[in-house]
Amino acid sequence: MTVLHLLLISFILACTSTAFAEALNSHSSNNNMKRVVVTGANKGIGKACCQKLLEEHSDVFVWLGSRSSERGEEAVQDIIKSVGGDCQDRIAMVTLDVSSEESVLQAAAKIQQQLKGDGKLYGIINNAGIIRGPDHSVVDTNYFGTKRVVNAFLPLLQRPGGRIVNVASASGPYFVQGLSQRDTLYKALKEPWTIEGGLDGVDELAKKYCDQYGSSYAFSKALVNAYNLLLARSQPDLIVNAVTPGWIKTDMTVGQGATNPPSQGAVPPVWALMDPELESTTTGLYYGSDCKRSPIHEYRSPGDPVYNGPTGIEATSSK
Ligand SMILES: NC(=O)c1ccc[n+]([C@@H]2O[C@H](COP(=O)([O-])OP(=O)(O)OC[C@H]3O[C@@H](n4cnc5c(N)ncnc54)[C@H](OP(=O)(O)O)[C@@H]3O)[C@@H](O)[C@H]2O)c1
Repeated sequence: MTVLHLLLISFILACTSTAFAEALNSHSSNNNMKRVVVTGANKGIGKACCQKLLEEHSDVFVWLGSRSSERGEEAVQDIIKSVGGDCQDRIAMVTLDVSSEESVLQAAAKIQQQLKGDGKLYGIINNAGIIRGPDHSVVDTNYFGTKRVVNAFLPLLQRPGGRIVNVASASGPYFVQGLSQRDTLYKALKEPWTIEGGLDGVDELAKKYCDQYGSSYAFSKALVNAYNLLLARSQPDLIVNAVTPGWIKTDMTVGQGATNPPSQGAVPPVWALMDPELESTTTGLYYGSDCKRSPIHEYRSPGDPVYNGPTGIEATSSK
């Protein structure tokens, strides 16, 4: 191969990658697209959410969040292969470790740059989570990680109507149900609007009770539900809701008998992110895996009557 051939090949490669980058940039900054971020999306339910969004919504651009850029890029390539079509222009990876303030801020800065000008984010799915590890790490990733992401991305969200979906779990209501009703924590998690200090008060509960109950995962998800409500109250022009994906076979539940595929777990988060009916519904609610309203203080099975108790969104204390 001559030097001329090598120069020609490098020229073609440069043109192709520039064209690809331009296509990506035009979709990520095109104001007609709904641009969304999904955290913890290199596998499991998060990855399935990205795929479902691209398959079912041709006007969505997805940033697939992954704490490992290598695993994230692999997931992007898998999704492009499965979805096909123009999907490669509608997905990009963003390195995002929800347990690191620095990583979350860098991810938000990168996305802000790609949004360009006055472009806004349509929504966030806070999906990243862990179930194993020291109690403080579980609470830090699942609860504080959710809050870190929200705080960093709030300025980028479109208003009115930007959406935040917090992926909770049925273990949250189970946790609250298992507490004594005389317990101050029970009242706080059942009626988060009574928490002294509002959103900061949830942080205090997280720190105080982090390793007190032997189930930091369930506790962290109960905190996510309390946070979800208080966040919705503090951001009335956004659509903020929590969902449980259901009992899904992923690395998180490996060996525990779950059989439903991640694509099924993606249904509630994608519904909460995209369903037009939620534009005119009270926000700050928690939905079961059947996408029906559920209480945050006791378990409701899919198919059971929809919960109709107080939403707390209209309560006036501790906003
Ligand atoms: N599976 C279920 O039955 C079930 C039920 C209820 C709720 N959920 C919730 O659904 C969500 C997804 O769970 P899954 O079942 O899909 O579990 P999974 O397969 O283990 O996926 C968890 C994802 O979160 C990521 N992650 C963990 N720590 C992170 C961090 N610090 N920063 C960024 N990403 C991080 C993981 O990345 P790495 O690959 O780098 O570890 C992975 O991509 C979680 O919030 C979970 O609590 C799951």
